[in-house]
Amino acid sequence: SMPKSVKIVEVGPRDGLQNEKNIIPTSVKIELIHRLVASGLSVIEASSFVSPKWVPQLSDAKDVMEGIRNIKDTRFPVLIPNLRGFEAAVAAGVKEIAVFASASEAFSKSNINCTIQDSLNRYRDVVAAAKGLGMPVRGYVSCVVGCPVEGSVPPSKVAYVAKELYDLGCSEISLGDTIGVGTPGTVIPMLEAVMSVVPTEKLAVHFHDTYGQALPNILISLQMGISTVDSSIAGLGGCPYAKGASGNVATEDVVYMLKGLGIDTNLDLSKLIAAGDFICKHLGRQSGSKTAVALSKM
Ligand code: HMG
Ligand code: MG
Repeated sequence: SMPKSVKIVEVGPRDGLQNEKNIIPTSVKIELIHRLVASGLSVIEASSFVSPKWVPQLSDAKDVMEGIRNIKDTRFPVLIPNLRGFEAAVAAGVKEIAVFASASEAFSKSNINCTIQDSLNRYRDVVAAAKGLGMPVRGYVSCVVGCPVEGSVPPSKVAYVAKELYDLGCSEISLGDTIGVGTPGTVIPMLEAVMSVVPTEKLAVHFHDTYGQALPNILISLQMGISTVDSSIAGLGGCPYAKGASGNVATEDVVYMLKGLGIDTNLDLSKLIAAGDFICKHLGRQSGSKTAVALSKM
C-alpha cells in the first residue's frame, strides 16, 4: 500500500552543493533556498556546521542562515558533526539539526575521522544538548547498502546504527545509499532489517542515482510504507569522501513520479524546475534531472 502523501526533504543546498569545487557565492545559495521555498518545499537542509577544512564550500553556513532568517513556515535543518558545530548553529539561529553516522567503519573514518562508536558517543551529547533546547534531531545513516572502501554493508549493521540513533532521541532516521549502488534487491532486505527495530513512520530514504537506481529504490520504499524521501534539486550532489558517487536523486524526478502515482506533495513542479535552472546556470552545467531536461525541451 502506498502512502497518501509524501514529505520531501530537499537536501540540495547542503548535500547538493558540498562537493562543488568552485566556491559558490553565499547570495546564490540564499537565492536558491528562496526559490525552493517558493516551490512549496517544507523542509530544506540549508547547510552544515562542519569543519571548513573538511568542507570549505559550506563554510558560510552562518551567513546562509542569516539570509533566510525571515522565512517563516519552512524548516531549515543543518548537518552537525560535534558539539562545537551545534553551538555555532544555535548562535546562528538554527532550530533543527541532523547528525550523521555511517554503517561502514571505513566511511566513518574518512568522513568524520572517527569510529562508528565514537561518533555515536559524540552524537549522544549533541542530541542531549539539542533536546535541552527542544530542537528536533534527524539522524543519518550513510552507506546503507554499500561503502566505497568496504563494499557491501550487511543489513544488520545498518539496523544497529539506525536503532542507536533512534535510541539517542533522533526523531527521524534517514537511510542513505551514499554511493548509489543499491538496487531493490539489496534495498528491500536492508529496509526490512531497519523496520524491525525502528518504526517505519520514523524512517526516510536518501538515494543517490549513480547507477540509475534511485527511482526504483524510492518506489519500493514507498510500497514498504516509507513516506519521507530526500532529494536534491537538479540532482546536484555527490560526496567528497565517497569517490565516484554521483548526485542525489533529482527532486523534479521524484515529484514527477509522485504526481504520476497520484500521491500528494503540495509542490509546484514548474517552480522547482525554475529553481533547478537557476542553480545549473550558475554552475554552468546541465540539470541532472531527466524531468527538467524533458520539460525544458517542450
Ligand atoms: P578532525 O580533523 O578529526 O577534528 O575533524 P578536529 O577536532 O581536529 O578538527 C579539525 C579542525 O576543524 C580544527 O581546526 C577544529 O577546530 C575545526 P584547527 O584547530 O585545525 O584550526 N573544527 C570545526 N570548525 C568548525 N565547525 C566545527 C568544527 N569541528 C572542528 N563543527 C570533524 C573531525 C568531524 C570536525 C571533520 O571530520 C568534519 O567536519 N567532517 C564533516 C565532513 C562532512 O561534512 N562530510 C559530508 C557529510 S555527507 C554524509 O555524511 C552523507 C549524507 O549526505 C547521507 C548520504 O548521502 O548517504 C548525510
Ligand atoms: Mg547524500
